[in-house]
Amino acid sequence: MKTIGLVIGSLRKGSYTRAIATQAAQMLPKDFKVKELNIANLPLYNQDLDDENRAPAEWEAFRSELNVVDAVIFATPEYNRGLPAALKNALDVGSRPYGQNLWDQKPAVIISDTPGAMGGFGANHQLRQSLVFLNMPTLQQPEAYIGNVTSFLDDDLKITNDSTKKFLQSIMDAFVQLIERY
Ligand code: FNR
Repeated sequence: MKTIGLVIGSLRKGSYTRAIATQAAQMLPKDFKVKELNIANLPLYNQDLDDENRAPAEWEAFRSELNVVDAVIFATPEYNRGLPAALKNALDVGSRPYGQNLWDQKPAVIISDTPGAMGGFGANHQLRQSLVFLNMPTLQQPEAYIGNVTSFLDDDLKITNDSTKKFLQSIMDAFVQLIERY
């Protein structure tokens, strides 16, 4: 059995990103357990706190949960053509103290989404840049830039069109293959 960490870049209650991410995660095989790594309450990263052994309890809890997942799904909206600060903060918290990068070697997939037309390309690739440095083998193809989300989410934020469901299934299938290679 594999445990997959789910990191969602939006903190908003009615998040489209959360809706897409949770429905995509349900498409994984039954023997894959999905565990959300909650990033909402992480204090901003400050290296002094690690250097002085004063890491906040929220960092410690996040690091413990991250430590035991086998792979990570990142789902993110785009903020000002980049990734949301909360998500970048989580990357930083999980990557330190120096020499203890907990993201290291965990296979990853990035799904970006937006009500706009451009699919969150800027956020997707800015995140991808950090994952290179964090040494996460990240799914390259198919790429998941999901635009116009409001056109296929119903009032309960369920995906209504088969083409998006099929596309997300193809992303999850490729992610499973990537995980099995590592
Ligand atoms: C946005 N939004 C946005 N959308 C986009 O496609 N490209 C962008 O650069 C931005 N920039 C941006 C900045 C900030 C600060 C906010 C709050 C929003 C719109 C964004 O896609 C929209 O609010 C989504 O609904 C956010 O995702 P969730 O919260 O629904 O998952």
